[in-house]
Amino acid sequence: MRLLFCGDVVGRAGRQVLLERLPALRAEFALDAVVVNGENAAGGFGITPQICQEFFAAGTDVITTGNHVFDQREIIPQLDREPRLIRPLNMMPGTPGRGSVEVRLVDGRKLVVLQVMGRLFMGPYDDPFRALEAELAKHTLGATAHAIVVDLHAEATSEKMALGHLADGRVSAVIGTHTHVPTADAWILPGGTAYITDVGMTGDYDSVIGMEKSISLQRFRSHVPAQRNVPALGEATLCAVFLETDDRTGLARRFEPLRLGGRLSGTTPDAG
Ligand SMILES: [Fe+2]
Ligand SMILES: [Fe+2]
Repeated sequence: MRLLFCGDVVGRAGRQVLLERLPALRAEFALDAVVVNGENAAGGFGITPQICQEFFAAGTDVITTGNHVFDQREIIPQLDREPRLIRPLNMMPGTPGRGSVEVRLVDGRKLVVLQVMGRLFMGPYDDPFRALEAELAKHTLGATAHAIVVDLHAEATSEKMALGHLADGRVSAVIGTHTHVPTADAWILPGGTAYITDVGMTGDYDSVIGMEKSISLQRFRSHVPAQRNVPALGEATLCAVFLETDDRTGLARRFEPLRLGGRLSGTTPDAG
């Protein structure tokens, strides 16, 4: 299976580069499915039903979120209505929405996408290790699903690496999100699971993690409450990873970062 996973889309600049580039990328890389983290798509905070529709129409199969999932209140009912929009598994019982989705490709192959959130420097979420174990017990890679992709939404590199090792050999890929800064550790773990600590954001990098740098600086340098953060609106970079899995085992065969447009110089793997 050939998949693309795009990191946290931040604001209008991020949405624009995603919507412009995705249709061509789908064709160029002969993609079977596309997963997009959309937790910052609406002005940097959350996502709206309309933005979800735009992402789906442009060729997105699954939208993941994160700690910002509820920032736009209008998305709350949508989380129960739209299975292709997921939030982290390890939120309190009774939280709207689901932490995983099974997608049937047009050719019948099955892709499972799930999301788990870290706790270090994050909120008081349920144990992500236990939540991931419980979810993985429902699937057998290569038997009940052709591919399984985990969106690992967390801050601390240590917690992310530990969760990656927990899932190694049981999922196709563990892809880090949330920090908005790409890491250089895209590799395939010993058990065959592709892993990256963070894929990076899809947004304007002339910013502080996607937000207007002057406001962010002011917030760090003064006790006086500053203006609310707003997304930076310069040309955005699309940060993603391309994943190719073995349909028989579900494990990773190729895993390569992709950085397109904007100020972040990067890599574009050969689509062949
Ligand atoms: Fe984010
Ligand atoms: Fe986040």
